[in-house]
Amino acid sequence: MPIALEVLEKIVREAGVIAMQHFNNLDNVEVIKKSPRDLVTDADVAVEKYLKKALEDSYPQFGFWGEESGQSADQTNRWIVDPIDGTHSFAKGQYFWSISVALEIDGELIAGSVFAPALDDLYIAAKGKGAVKNGKSISVSKETSLDDSMIATGFACLRSYLVENNLKRFCRIAEKTTGQRRFGSAAMDLCLVADGQVDAFWEQELNLYDVAAGALIVKEAGGTVTDFEGKDGVFPKQILATNGGIFEQILKLM
Ligand code: IPD
Ligand code: CA
Ligand code: CA
Repeated sequence: MPIALEVLEKIVREAGVIAMQHFNNLDNVEVIKKSPRDLVTDADVAVEKYLKKALEDSYPQFGFWGEESGQSADQTNRWIVDPIDGTHSFAKGQYFWSISVALEIDGELIAGSVFAPALDDLYIAAKGKGAVKNGKSISVSKETSLDDSMIATGFACLRSYLVENNLKRFCRIAEKTTGQRRFGSAAMDLCLVADGQVDAFWEQELNLYDVAAGALIVKEAGGTVTDFEGKDGVFPKQILATNGGIFEQILKLM
């Protein structure tokens, strides 16, 4: 493992301190529309600026891809960063938003962390080493009945332009499940599958920085990560993460 998870955790926690300084002072947070339904704040930019420098200082050998500042240096061995995932929730003063940092080497996700500072929940995983939440090992739920399950999803900000915009799919699945949630942070949605708070999550039209760390955490917690056809792998344009137990049942409804 070319990095120390303790170093990654320390950097992500520090980024959380910066994010919370803005979160606790929301009246002075500037909210900008990147597109009709896609927001960014000066908190997103400040957190990403901190993460870029801290990761480069600790591991100068890796490149960087951040949602707000784009791609720089090596893009084969790189950090993939979403400084605030769930910016709309953040700007509204809600708690379900997170900081997502993943390390990708030669196209393979080998380490990742998702931190929800307002909840003080920190998830971290390394390939082949399992997943941890707040220092304790986590695993997906044991639910095997879709009918009894709790699912989560999201609606890409592009939805008004999309023919297939997930709304029909959501209705199909909502009819066949007990609980449905829309938390507003894809990175956190994936971590809630990893620790068994929900039994499956899916969404479309995402970007790799939304899902990279969360997808690794689900896999290391014993879950499945596929596209809507069931093909194994991380496909941001259509990602389905499950506890395994309801995989075949929910796949039929995608
Ligand atoms: C958003 C969140 C949301 C998802 C959106 C994403 P952002 O990320 O992950 O849950 O539904 O499609 O864009 O823009 O707040 O970083
Ligand atoms: Ca995001
Ligand atoms: Ca973001």
